[in-house]
Amino acid sequence: MIGERMLEALNKQINEELYSSYLYLSMSAWFENIGLKGFANWMKVQAKEELGHAMKFYDYIIARGGKVKLHEIKAPPHEWRSPLHAFEETLKHEQHITECINNLVELAEEEKDRATFNMLQWFIDEQVEEEANDEEIISRLKMIDSSNGIFMLDRELAQRKEEVE
Ligand code: FEO
Repeated sequence: MIGERMLEALNKQINEELYSSYLYLSMSAWFENIGLKGFANWMKVQAKEELGHAMKFYDYIIARGGKVKLHEIKAPPHEWRSPLHAFEETLKHEQHITECINNLVELAEEEKDRATFNMLQWFIDEQVEEEANDEEIISRLKMIDSSNGIFMLDRELAQRKEEVE
């Protein structure tokens, strides 16, 4: 059976992941509106991945015999100043999620909850990958000096597909 503090923290993380999904779906809609369908695709795939992350926590809580408690999801922003601004906000958000995961790991250590500690290792690796992806797109956006460059990157981001795990 999972401890009360750990259970509450894991339920809170479901909400963080669902908000991430909401945020990226909102960014996807914004990219559609400004005519960057490749960026919109990238964000839509990311939104689905985040839903998958929420479900990993959900399934884990159930597998441990805990009770899933879903909380209210706050509304995300609807507009950004530029593609670069949207990706800078994405990186900032992922840094916040990394901090959440690190706090969960610390709590699992404190509680001597080995199973949760193990489950969280996947998320530690995932956060390294997510921050690296955002940083790469940010540095490419900073190098772009023409609308032609943006459309080339847009075509590339259109290729992103959902990963099957
Ligand atoms: Fe679920 Fe983007 O971290």
